[in-house]
Amino acid sequence: MHVFFFALLAAAASAAFADDASRARVRWAQSPHGPLLERILPPTFGAAQLPRPRSAGAKLVVRYCVQCHNLPNPAMHDARRWPSVLERMVLRMRGKGNLGVLMKEMMAGVEAPTEAEHRVLLAYLRRHAQQAIDPQTVADLYAPEGEAFRLACSQCHVLPDPGRYTAAEWPRVVARMQENMQWMNRVVGTKPVPGEPQLRLEDINAFLARHARRAD
Ligand code: HEC
Ligand code: HEC
Repeated sequence: MHVFFFALLAAAASAAFADDASRARVRWAQSPHGPLLERILPPTFGAAQLPRPRSAGAKLVVRYCVQCHNLPNPAMHDARRWPSVLERMVLRMRGKGNLGVLMKEMMAGVEAPTEAEHRVLLAYLRRHAQQAIDPQTVADLYAPEGEAFRLACSQCHVLPDPGRYTAAEWPRVVARMQENMQWMNRVVGTKPVPGEPQLRLEDINAFLARHARRAD
């Protein structure tokens, strides 16, 4: 009965708003674990921002990846990281993931990609992935001047290549990452650890500016 009701809700929601996290929203509302799932990924990235939004890969991301949490950005991880992250998600969609009981409760109505779709998803995520920093070309990465950046920016993904943006563009991206940190760290029931390193935004922006793409 409960499952049937849930499936109805999920179907209605996905028909109404197929391109956002509405299916996840139904899940968050139905489960005691909703607040936890809601904070797995920030709500800052929308379907319209996906690269090549009409490609098969983008459509599969929109179809499968907003069933439990907000839409993932392919640029979050580098091409080396995506295979293992995607594998973990696909196993979970097939009902074979970790977080046993928590996920079982949430599983009703979750669709899993086929093997062929899994390959298309992986190729898409890797093609539009993040570029990792090349430590060979950035002399002060492991010097004290690189520390604020290294500590803050390696928590959720590889250290990004500073050459991705110009010095003028970086502060806006860093500000969004600060919001991401607030969103993703606010796991229900946890408190900031006393003495935890503080985010040194000025040092981070200075480091990025030194190694940024030259504006031309
Ligand atoms: C059945 C629910 C479910 C579905 C569907 C799902 N995820 Fe997740 N996802 C989770 C859970 C739970 C976590 C947090 C635990 C973890 O990181 O494994 C998570 C975390 C993440 C993270 C953040 C953690 C990290 O390693 O960066 C990313 C990125 C992500 N998922 C990508 C995806 C992509 C891409 C898809 C679609 C192919 C997807 N997810 C589909 C449940 C799901
Ligand atoms: C709390 C987790 C978290 C931390 C810490 C974090 N990021 Fe991110 N990062 C994300 C998520 C989630 C995305 C994908 C969504 C987005 O783009 O906002 C992302 C994507 C990115 C991207 C690719 C997207 C784009 O627009 O180019 C860059 C570059 C990036 N982060 C840089 C940084 C930098 C620099 C820092 C350190 C100041 C940092 N990140 C710290 C979570 C984090």
